[in-house]
Parts: sequence; structure tokens; C-alpha cells
Amino acid sequence: MSDIAENGPCSFVIFGVTGDLAARKLVPALHALQRGGWLHPQTVVVGFGRSEMSDDALRERLGDALAEHLDGPLDDAWRDLAARLHYVRGNYDDDAAYARLADRLREVGHGDHVYYTATPPQTYRDIVTGLADAGLADESAGFRRLVIEKPFGEDLDSARRLNALVLDRFRESQVYRIDHYLAKETAQNLAVLRFANTLFEPIWSNRAIDHVQITMAEPMGMEGRGSFYDAAGVVRDVFQNHMLQLLALVTMEPPARYDADAVRDEKVKVLRALACADPEHAVLGQYTAGRTASEGRSAPAGRLASEGRTAPAYRDEPGVAPGSRTPTYAAARFELHNWRWAGVPFYLRAGKRLEAKASEIVLTFKRPPHVPFDLPVPPRADRLILRLVPDEGISLRFNAKQPGQGIELDRVGLDFAYQGRYQRPNPDAYETLIQDVIEGDATLFMRADEVEVQWKVIAPLLEATAARDPLLYAAGSMGPVEAAELLERDGRSWYRPRKA
Ligand code: BG6
Repeated sequence: MSDIAENGPCSFVIFGVTGDLAARKLVPALHALQRGGWLHPQTVVVGFGRSEMSDDALRERLGDALAEHLDGPLDDAWRDLAARLHYVRGNYDDDAAYARLADRLREVGHGDHVYYTATPPQTYRDIVTGLADAGLADESAGFRRLVIEKPFGEDLDSARRLNALVLDRFRESQVYRIDHYLAKETAQNLAVLRFANTLFEPIWSNRAIDHVQITMAEPMGMEGRGSFYDAAGVVRDVFQNHMLQLLALVTMEPPARYDADAVRDEKVKVLRALACADPEHAVLGQYTAGRTASEGRSAPAGRLASEGRTAPAYRDEPGVAPGSRTPTYAAARFELHNWRWAGVPFYLRAGKRLEAKASEIVLTFKRPPHVPFDLPVPPRADRLILRLVPDEGISLRFNAKQPGQGIELDRVGLDFAYQGRYQRPNPDAYETLIQDVIEGDATLFMRADEVEVQWKVIAPLLEATAARDPLLYAAGSMGPVEAAELLERDGRSWYRPRKA
């Protein structure tokens, strides 16, 4: 982010303003930016939706949602922002609606425009076409930036078609494809860890690293997203994007500059060398009824599942087809076919209704080639743990000598936690992303070729999904037991995410 409110005013258009994403993420992020003085005082927000509603009704509705999110009363920052909030009603496939939007923007808005698609993916084509046909992609009177939420397509072919349509109407530099994981502090800090220190680079390869694990575990179930999720499943929902992006950040070569082109060039290069190894051994699961750590998003993460509430089976969730075969859990092994990473397996796992909320990357180092001590068991391998959720931070786990006679090992750690180190909370990923779009910095967004190569990498997993019935696991567990075998077969085991 650059200095406070150094950008000009802009009109921030939210398609799907009455939906879940706008209420839960976009409006709280805009409010936080307003409160922090990051938004230009004349920035306006124009909501677009299908319901009949007045400006005031939208203000009230979003204000209520924000108060719930803040868990407290609304403040002056919200009142200032709400006064600059407007509404346009329309269907996404109706040209007249985009003409009304253009009129409204001329009336209340300012030179620069951001268009945000907080809508179901089926609407993206209509929105892109509607905007362009109404002249709203034309940049002669200020920038016109289009933010497209994930999922971008549902496989390689559909992503290619969507890219072709978008790039027929907008230039690549106007397009911001979201993956909010890239804006999490630890994800950004990964680049700093690797490229602003000399300590790690010499050991960041197959010479020192035995294997890498990436986990994205969530206690939540469907939370009203059942019909979307049932069509997508875990592979499209988080593997194609968040998981592969984290893997790319861990493995890419150092870019010459930390800017959008250089960083994305390196990510695309490494993703092209990535392959899902033996997809027949990938583990696909679906949760059955059980107990869960948290029913809602705000419940504390990491509580023991046995303390939680009863959770329904996936197939009984609203919006999910009764006999659905959609996987809610996947674990798979990937390999990188390049000089730095050849021979290092990457184990990725993600799932819903798991024991605790935990997103983390664990690098396990090779064991010492020779141990000169007389020990009852061999020393454990050193690990570097990058935690994205909960307790964003970094830990290094290694062996030390216990004080006293003789050599007895102890397992110790060096820890860096954002929370203890800084007084202020980390910005939500959406705050960072919205500010970056307004500033025109696309480093944390995905380029057309990047999205396509990600679909290519996970194609074997999508095929496996179509061909197999998922294995069942109880809600509140850590997924199907077969996931443990995936690593045991290689003489390894999953790192157990730490409980909050
Ligand atoms: C979204 C997925 O992209 O990421 C959701 O669609 C998932 O299924 C969410 O719950 C997790 O994000 P976070 O920031 O809560 O880890």
C-alpha cells in the first residue's frame, strides 16, 4: 500500500452487492480502508443487484451486516462511507441495466472505476459483455479495472473461453483475478523470508529439503454455499487456486523485481514444471455426520472437535444433492520437474469439516547424514512452519541438548508470531486486495496464463473426482484415514497442525 489516500477518487462498483461476499468481506474491507484514511474522501460505492431497493435500504442492509461483523455499533467512518453508497437495480444480462449504471456513474461518480464481480461465476460473461457494450471498459476518462472473483472457469477449457471473452473486451492490465490467499500476511511474508534474507536461500532446494506439506483445514461446512460447492468440490474451490498459489510462492525462483510481471512470470514458470504425481493415489473424501469445532465463522478455531456441536453429513446440507459424489476433502502428492526441486514431494491436503482451522506450509529438512551421538532413537527432522491461519507466523523446530550429563535431545522452537510482535491486527486480505486494485498493483492477482496453467495442473485430480466415489470421513476428524497412507507409503507422516 502506498501513502494514505494518495490516489484520486474512484467509483467502486460491486456487482452482487446484496450477496454474502459483499456483506462479509467487501463492505467490511471498504469500511476498514475508510476508517484508516486509505480511501479518497470522494470515493463512491455503487452497488448493483437484482432486487428492487432504494439507496437508503441498501445502506441500512449493509450497515446491519457491518454492525454484526464488527460486533459493535456503527461509527463515523461507516456514516461517511454510507453517504456515498448508491444502488442500481438490474439483471446481469440486460443492456438497459448497464446503461442505467453508466448514467448513475456519470451522476454520482468520478473519473476512475473499479468493477467487482461478487456474483456467481455464471454471471461473469454477461457482466463483462454488459460493461464493455455500455462503453464502461473504455479508459479515455480514467482507469476501468475489472476484479473477477474465483473460481475463474471450472476447468481448463472454460477458463480459456472466459479469458478469451474478457481479453476481447478489456486489456490484461485492466483485469484483476482474485485469489485472496495471496494477500494474507504470511503468504506475502514468504517472499520477504526468501528474498530479503540470505539465511534460507542456500537450503531452499532438494539439497536440504526432504518434502513439503501444505494444509488447508477448515471446521466449517457449507454455511449456505451448498449448491455452489456441490458443483465445485474441494479441488476447484481451493486446490486450483489457494493451494497451488502457496506452492508456487514456496518454489518459484527469485524474481528480479517484486512487481506484477516479474513475480507472475516466475510463478507461471514453476507451475509449468508442476505435476500431480500418481493421481490414482490421491485421496478424495466427503464428510459424514459428526461433531465439529465450530458451526459459525466466528467461533474460535482449533477447539477440540469433541467440544463442538453435532454437524450434519455433507449430503444432508442444504443445496447439496442427496446422493452427491462431490469431494469435500482431497490429499495429493505433487512433483516439480526442475533442477531445484526434483525429488522433493509436495503433499497437499484441504478439506471442510475437519478438526480445526489451520492453513500452513511445513518444510521438512533432510535428516543428518550421520549422527555421532549414542541416542535411543534417531533425531527428528528439522521443520520450518509457515502459519497462515490461525496465529499467522513462522516457527523453526529443531533438536537441542537437554541440560545435564550426557546427550539427551529436546525438541525446541524459534517462533515469530505477528500477534505478539505488532500491536495492530493484520489487515484482512480483502483490504489489501481492494487497495491494490485502486493503486493498480496486480502483483497479488492472477494473470490469464497463470490461471490456465493451474487448471492444467489439477486436471488429473478433476478426472479422479469424476471417476471415483469419495471416501467417507466423520465431521470433526482430520479426514479419511487413507490420507495418512499416502505419506506412510513414502515413509513419512502428516505434520499435525497445532491447536489454537
Ligand atoms: C474460499 C473458499 O476461497 O476460501 C472457501 O471458497 C474457504 O471454501 C475460504 O472457506 C477460506 O478462506 P480463509 O481466508 O477463511 O482461510
